[in-house]
Amino acid sequence: MRVAILISGGGSNMTALADSMTGDHPARPVLVLSNRPDAGGLARADARGIPTAAVDHRPYKGDRAAFEAALHDTLCAAQPDLICLAGFMRVLTEGFVARWQGRMINIHPSLLPKYRGLDTHARALEAGDTEAGCTVHEVTPALDDGPILGQARVPVRAGDTPDSLAARVLEAEHRLYPAVLRRLAEGDRKRLDLPQR
Ligand code: GRF
Repeated sequence: MRVAILISGGGSNMTALADSMTGDHPARPVLVLSNRPDAGGLARADARGIPTAAVDHRPYKGDRAAFEAALHDTLCAAQPDLICLAGFMRVLTEGFVARWQGRMINIHPSLLPKYRGLDTHARALEAGDTEAGCTVHEVTPALDDGPILGQARVPVRAGDTPDSLAARVLEAEHRLYPAVLRRLAEGDRKRLDLPQR
């Protein structure tokens, strides 16, 4: 299975995914693509010998269709079977999602359906939640709403700040995303639930 990974930032999830695809793993990373040419993750991918590309959204100045057409062309050139969004911070339109539906997944830092969108950790703390976590789901046109493929849970601890909780959840993301990817690559779409750690 050929896997393209879309990032916008440091790419720690991308690194976890890429580093998992070795040996007898049935998938390989074929492209790391960023909408930010300065994303730290591009250098990390390059250092691993993975082809990289950037499609900067800024020159498109709000012309989402043109930006997504460029994104689509760059992706098609790499012929991926699966696209993993990993901290990709652009909302994708229905048209783009429809072209890749069933072949595009995302990781979100909350236990969906709770806290779609941004600031998930601050919202979990504000609500007094005792547990937080992350979700890997299929990407559908509605934001953070597709079928859930896996979740991992972490405790919320006394004195947690959004940053300390984010760090704990991020560690869980790095366990969950490669585990779900491996299952998908092996043809298993059954939901995976990792116990709290
Ligand atoms: C992760 O928390 C991911 O869930 C969210 O953005 C963050 C990206 O981190 N969507 P990284 O770029 O993978 O380090």
